[in-house]
Amino acid sequence: MIEALRRWAATHTERSRYSPVGIAFHWIMAFLVMAQLAIGWYASILPSGGGKLLTYQLHSAVGLPILLLAIARLFWRLIIPGPVNDADRGGWQTQAAYLTHYLFYLCFFGLPLTGWVMWSALGEPAPLRLAGFIPWPALPLHGLGPEMQYRLLAVAEEGHHILVLLLALLIPLHVGAALKHHFWDRHDVLRGMLPEVPDWEDSRKETQHSPRESGLPQQ
Ligand code: HEM
Ligand code: HEM
Repeated sequence: MIEALRRWAATHTERSRYSPVGIAFHWIMAFLVMAQLAIGWYASILPSGGGKLLTYQLHSAVGLPILLLAIARLFWRLIIPGPVNDADRGGWQTQAAYLTHYLFYLCFFGLPLTGWVMWSALGEPAPLRLAGFIPWPALPLHGLGPEMQYRLLAVAEEGHHILVLLLALLIPLHVGAALKHHFWDRHDVLRGMLPEVPDWEDSRKETQHSPRESGLPQQ
């Protein structure tokens, strides 16, 4: 099964492209994570009250699927190697790109996990729901005693905040590097992460009908 998946993915990675599964993971998670940053910041500036709690509920509903996607994506990434492209020429830029990717994965796991700890240590201000409707348990922190729970809350809050700042730094660096590769260096890096569109010229040839074949009078 894994061998068959690898062979299928190789038909893409051999052409310096991510597989469609890798591309779907990338863009779905990029969208969710950026939305999540915006929702989190918006929630944090709202005055206390029902609106703030509702926004945090939305924040947790969007954040928990990110954890499940991160597990699935890491599994996929471990069994399916990425393509070798113009970004893999060695040197500090390649190392910086790999480091950025590792740190992104740290955020994908660390943010939902610290969020889940905070929510549970706060005594579950409202029930957690994955994507807004699938019940998700709080972590069993009640047995720890109030002081330990408070400490855990403080550590998770600090961790969440540091990872938010890290993410806010990584995204512009990563996007800037991708755009530089594409527009400045004319590398194949961004093209390999975009969905493949069939060649317009080829499909035009296939669909174009000649008036002679269709029996219409020619001009
Ligand atoms: C990739 C996923 C996530 C991102 C990008 C994210 C981002 C943010 C941001 C930007 C804030 C604003 C305050 C700050 O800068 O710390 C925040 C706060 C918060 N987030 Fe998240 N979050 C994520 C996942 C989660 C999850 C899954 C939960 C709950 C299950 C959660 C619970 C919270 C809570 C309770 C706060 C308030 C913290 C406080 O007021 O000190 N987050 N998050
Ligand atoms: C407009 C926005 C974005 C563009 C143009 C973009 C572009 C790219 C490109 C071209 C690659 C392939 C790099 C290579 O092969 O060396 C890549 C990989 C990656 N990107 Fe993005 N990206 C964007 C947003 C994001 C965001 C917001 C995140 C995280 C939240 C993210 C996380 C990643 C990760 C983790 C990889 C490594 C993929 C892997 O090998 O598993 N990207 N991105």
